Amino acid sequence: MQHDHTNLRVPGPTPVPEAVARAGAQPMVNHRGPEFAELMGEVLEQLKPFFGSRSEPLLLTGSGTGAQEAAVVNVLSPGDTVLSVTAGVFGDRFAAIAEAFGANVVRLQGEWGKAISAQEVGEAIENAGDVKAVLLTHNETSTGVTNDIAAIAAVIRRLVPDAVVLVDGVSSIGALPFELDEWDVDVAITGSQKAWMSPPGLAMVAVSERGWAAHRQATMPRFYWDFTKAQKNGEKRTTPFTPAVGVIRALQEALRLMHEETPEGVFARHRRIGAQLRDGLKALNFELFSDQVAASNTVTAVRIPPGMEASALIKNLRKRGIVVASGQDWLKGSVFRIGHMGFVRPEDIDGVLQGLEASVAARRLEAVV
Ligand SMILES: Cc1ncc(COP(=O)(O)O)c(C=O)c1O
Repeated sequence: MQHDHTNLRVPGPTPVPEAVARAGAQPMVNHRGPEFAELMGEVLEQLKPFFGSRSEPLLLTGSGTGAQEAAVVNVLSPGDTVLSVTAGVFGDRFAAIAEAFGANVVRLQGEWGKAISAQEVGEAIENAGDVKAVLLTHNETSTGVTNDIAAIAAVIRRLVPDAVVLVDGVSSIGALPFELDEWDVDVAITGSQKAWMSPPGLAMVAVSERGWAAHRQATMPRFYWDFTKAQKNGEKRTTPFTPAVGVIRALQEALRLMHEETPEGVFARHRRIGAQLRDGLKALNFELFSDQVAASNTVTAVRIPPGMEASALIKNLRKRGIVVASGQDWLKGSVFRIGHMGFVRPEDIDGVLQGLEASVAARRLEAVV
């Protein structure tokens, strides 16, 4: 059963402010009509600063995984050598998608919990041969690590200037600074249910000039995710297929709130809240999973204390109205994850820390009795 005031602290879907929920519940409109055109125009314009791009983003109806697939199939051809830089579940998924569509995927497998350095990427490129594309994860949600995309992209540009750089920013863009134009990244993707304080259902994608040029040459099969269709329709302020109208309405309201706070204000809040959570966890003697120099300001992975069961801790928190996520893949059972992106305030983090303190105390009490 859900608590009355659930403190939803999974790394997506994230909580939705009341005004955003109301906006999403408005009456439907024709997605080929003037109301939708106005809505879409505003959303596209308001998204741009968060991608750090002058180019117009694409709105796709689908989840983050759909956007990963869209990024791959729109700029690559079967047989292309692709360097996949991965140190977690979502980097692995990006690689698996490229492989499923026939790319020759070479993996740079980083240690989970650590950032991957630009130097390692440079070495991997030199060993991989004719690299056509590099797949990067900005924020690895399974481990709570943020990679330095600016530094990595700079090395890629120096070594393989024509390679396309695809960045999964599903759990970063909208919460952490992202500069597609300045960093010279080619395709960046994100999802409405993460930093955007909106319900799941929308993927947003930005594409550079180099990305569009690669798209025109790319031969991987695609239909639903075709960037050309999305762009041509986008120019007319509509979408090729029926979009998630309610989610776009919600996103419009969320973007208004984000611009009211200003992008810099949003990023600064995420930095403050990330530090607040990490300091609080350390004060409670919790051990953080990731290397602290690369600690994510949107999601934190925490080791389960010795003698405690992951499922019992998660259940205990849930009873207190706090919903956190379990570890993924081989980390299941040894870590739990706390989401702190989008609609998150200091008091939400205080609530999590108090819940953790009480859960640990309850556990100690059980051990005594
Ligand atoms: C970095 C990253 N990439 C991709 C995805 C997949 O998104 P979805 O679950 O919306 O398909 C997620 C979801 O957590 C993510 O965090």
